[in-house]
Amino acid sequence: MSTNASLFERAQRVIPGGVNSPVRAFRAVGGTPRFIARAQGAYLWDAEGRKYIDYIGSWGPMILGHGHPAVLEAVTRAAQEGLSFGAPTEREVELAEAILAQVPSMQQVRLVSSGTEAGMSALRLARGATGRSNIVKFEGCYHGHADALLVKAGSGLATFGHPTSAGVPPEVAQHTIVLPYNDTAALEAAFDAHPRELACVMIEPIAGNMNFVRAQVPFMKRLRELCTRDGTLLVFDEVMTGFRVALGGAQSVYARAIPGFAPDVSVFGKVIGGGMPLAAFGGSRDVMSQLAPLGPVYQAGTLSGNPVATACGLATLREIAKPGFFDALAARTDALLDGLAAEAQAHGVPFSVDHEGGMFGFFFAADLPQHYTAVMATDKERFNRFFHAMLERGVYLAPALYEAGFVSAAHGAGDIDATLSAAREAFAAL
Ligand SMILES: Cc1ncc(COP(=O)(O)O)c(C=O)c1O
Repeated sequence: MSTNASLFERAQRVIPGGVNSPVRAFRAVGGTPRFIARAQGAYLWDAEGRKYIDYIGSWGPMILGHGHPAVLEAVTRAAQEGLSFGAPTEREVELAEAILAQVPSMQQVRLVSSGTEAGMSALRLARGATGRSNIVKFEGCYHGHADALLVKAGSGLATFGHPTSAGVPPEVAQHTIVLPYNDTAALEAAFDAHPRELACVMIEPIAGNMNFVRAQVPFMKRLRELCTRDGTLLVFDEVMTGFRVALGGAQSVYARAIPGFAPDVSVFGKVIGGGMPLAAFGGSRDVMSQLAPLGPVYQAGTLSGNPVATACGLATLREIAKPGFFDALAARTDALLDGLAAEAQAHGVPFSVDHEGGMFGFFFAADLPQHYTAVMATDKERFNRFFHAMLERGVYLAPALYEAGFVSAAHGAGDIDATLSAAREAFAAL
């Protein structure tokens, strides 16, 4: 039988770092990644036959858990009808309608194959629609690996950034301003320094790539005002939060707190594909009419709106739109995080938690961080020991302190109890 270690060794010979996406390599926490052989419901089994309660859920898509019968049936039927046509299908229209039905800020949506592609396309759309080149993003937010978005802050808050990856031309990074998250003064300074020059501000409204940090309501309100004032498009990256923190995504959460609130452009991925490669971006009819073939902004894809992926996404959205789905999911997430916080407190471990719908974060710090620097200042050694202690006890958490976690509808009360028992032992051993 292959072991995780033998597979990792073999993988490293033929795949850079042994993985097809860097965080899978366990570099942040050390140790050997688990090679997953199969999954069902809330569980994964690795190549050695060990079972884990899965709180990664493929980094967000598996909101129904693995192997949901309605999803499997839809995918199987779609595969039998044809894997790819490169021509329009009714199912694409159905999926677009199903997405738009839950996201009133969008009148039209285009389907693509990955969150990176959706974010990159939204950026081009914003630039094309405004005729401006400069953009703002926030430190700690990840929007996929397009050149213009792999950028860190420049020397001053309102100055343009530097690439965070080799291979990104400085000329590209020079159009991106990177600001600290939740910092209203920095945001105002950037708009003041670049009046009517910013094509868009792109934000993860609840950031899931620096663990779990939500944009504060006054910050979001000011961001919306500044964008409206300057004709800058507010782009919500809901690849992680969309159909995950609530049926209407994070924008529905902010719309409850800020009357009339809506972003201009939204980006989705993960849950809308239900585990298949599918993502989307959308906005008003006016903005979306800038896209080819209607308008001058080019964007295309051989596998965009793929018939099997759209079947998977549609079946998933139908399940999560059922009455009570999100209440039950949120209650389960609540029980998990309340329980973890209580166990940490019982062991005198400084710990804080936050969650919304089926997405959560926890920090080895007494107070919830509000931005990237604060997240990275939380106790990494403790996080890593906790991660490994949980993994040894059959609980599969994200292998880095800057990643969010996910609960699915398949996680039952017994799974939460088992997780909390493991956590009790893990906290005691920290
Ligand atoms: C908020 C956000 N945007 C964009 C992406 C990129 O999506 P993909 O990995 O599908 O390219 C991710 C991926 O994790 C994400 O979390």
